[in-house]
Amino acid sequence: MKRFLISALVLLVAGWSIAATHDEDGSRLWLRADSVNTAAAITGVKGTAMAELQTFWQGGPVTLKRQKGLAKDGYTIKSQNGKTVIAAASDAGLLYGAYHLLRLQQTGQGIASLDISEQPFYDLRILNHWDNPNGTVERGFAGRSIFLNPDPARMKMYGRANASVGINGTVLNNVNAKPEVLSTESLQKSKEIADLLRPYGIRVYLSINFASPIRIGGLQTADPLNADVVRWWKDKVNEIYRIIPDFGGFLVKANSEGEPGPQDFGRTHADGANMLADVLKPHDGVVMWRAFVYKPQSSDRANQAYEEFMPLDGQFRDNVIIQVKNGPIDFQPREPYSPLFTAMQKTPMMVEFQLTQEYLGAANHLVYLAPMWQEFFSFVKPASLRAMAGVANIGDNINWCGHHFAQANWYAFGRTAWNPSLTPQDIAEEWLEQTFSLSATATNSPLSTLCSQLIHVMLASREACVNYMMPLGLHHIFAGSHHYGPEPWYSPRGVRADWTPPYYHKADSIGLGFNRTLSGSANVKQYPAELCSLYNDINTCPENLLTWFHHVPWDHRMSSGRTFWDELCLKYDDGVREARHFLTVWDALQPYVDCQRFGEVQRKLRIQARDAEWWRDACLLYFQTFSHRPIPQDVEHPVHNLDEMMKFRIPISMYENPESGYTK
Ligand code: GCU
Repeated sequence: MKRFLISALVLLVAGWSIAATHDEDGSRLWLRADSVNTAAAITGVKGTAMAELQTFWQGGPVTLKRQKGLAKDGYTIKSQNGKTVIAAASDAGLLYGAYHLLRLQQTGQGIASLDISEQPFYDLRILNHWDNPNGTVERGFAGRSIFLNPDPARMKMYGRANASVGINGTVLNNVNAKPEVLSTESLQKSKEIADLLRPYGIRVYLSINFASPIRIGGLQTADPLNADVVRWWKDKVNEIYRIIPDFGGFLVKANSEGEPGPQDFGRTHADGANMLADVLKPHDGVVMWRAFVYKPQSSDRANQAYEEFMPLDGQFRDNVIIQVKNGPIDFQPREPYSPLFTAMQKTPMMVEFQLTQEYLGAANHLVYLAPMWQEFFSFVKPASLRAMAGVANIGDNINWCGHHFAQANWYAFGRTAWNPSLTPQDIAEEWLEQTFSLSATATNSPLSTLCSQLIHVMLASREACVNYMMPLGLHHIFAGSHHYGPEPWYSPRGVRADWTPPYYHKADSIGLGFNRTLSGSANVKQYPAELCSLYNDINTCPENLLTWFHHVPWDHRMSSGRTFWDELCLKYDDGVREARHFLTVWDALQPYVDCQRFGEVQRKLRIQARDAEWWRDACLLYFQTFSHRPIPQDVEHPVHNLDEMMKFRIPISMYENPESGYTK
């Protein structure tokens, strides 16, 4: 008996230490349940639902039932006496219901008497991959394209991950689209991917190059009103649907950053979008036409999408959706919402969020983006939009996203597109528990305290990033050759002004910021009257957008009583302190996280804390050359030299994640 007890104890201790130290590489994302069975080979979306339950469900019998009258993709889950019924109007609904049930199991929630009814808020919940045919990923910080040589096992995991959070569409290639994407050979490759993703309820879409009729069709023009051009697109679209019968449609970047578009032929965005929409209509396809447009001649880039698109409001076909980035410039750490969202009342619109952290520390910084999206939705009613797109942060890195915590943004994107009223905290808790088995409701109270702190880290991380990079409304003060580090001084001769930071911050001896008031570029006028007057007055403008809308005098009194300069210094320093605090919280979690993921996240958090100092020092020392004011005593003073930081370069392309920032 004694011997038995001892060996049981040894086993227990050994078992515990294995559980606590067993390395994980992050490849299983948030779907870390171990299989309890081998599923029979079943096909179709319903088959996937059955297979997932057979493989992972540990409870009593589950029946999957098709039932009329429920919303498309929606489902109910009811359980009684150990039996569970998932009902849905479509097979996709059954699959989403199955994942819901498995999520409850994985997060340890009661499953004895369930009475759940769910339906997605948006019909279209779609990822945009910026993947190129040669395998590079534009602004991709997690390796190369997963679609280059699609590995069935990896595609299966990708399908599972997306379906588990309700994502039902994916654009396979970069918005800066190569015409060859529409070649028959390339379409056959897309078909392979579509076949692998179909069982997960995911339709594929392609970004197209508007000049394709010329570039691969041999025509003289791509004028959308030219009969030969229309015929070319018709034939091409027919070919696509012969190859991929459930193809979703096109995403189009036109007349933007050098990409071709209808304006090259004297036509409008509406002419271009409608021509494609008409061709796709018989197949039930959509056109997602992007409104990311700006030209170097304009005195305010923030005004331009509105100026080009507002006159076209109401002129688009009903299968065109105008896809607008959340802010008017470009995925900055903080922007006001793009005014097009409230201005265009007669056109279906969708928001484009960026999951890949092009401007938020790439795959090195922990920045949880759900709070940013929640902020957006506090201005733009979810119901005013048709769909939600997210620029994917996925590559062939073993952990998919480069940073273990960047997986949370993929997860949160799906969950938010399913239900925009879920709170960032709910989503973070759900994700953390599934991904790291860390729960704030753990029975071990030191652990639950630490978990609460970690959730707070996630929730605070976007604001911290704003603070150490560009607080109080600053924007686009990034390096010229990458968007990772600070170069507020970058302004070489010959580079177009709107690609240089001084165009945006306008630092001078008087103050800092872009005057977008009625006395400046009048950007405020693009917002509804109430917001226009709020933003137009420096005394009522929210301070977190102050230099976005105003050229703020250095001695302007802030609500705290401090001068603007002092407040700016304080904000930068707050950001640095927060980034260091993230590391402290994480370090305390070491006993509860497997070694590999613990070490990898720790390494990244250290980079983040050092980068935060770099940002603070570069920006404050540079802006100080204009403000000529001292850095306040109660703020930690710069530890780097401006002249040295100004010489520093990171030699990377837009397809790579930097090893680290200024300080190693
Ligand atoms: C940003 C980004 C580009 C991208 C563009 C777009 O400017 O830096 O890489 O192509 O956005 O969204 O089209």
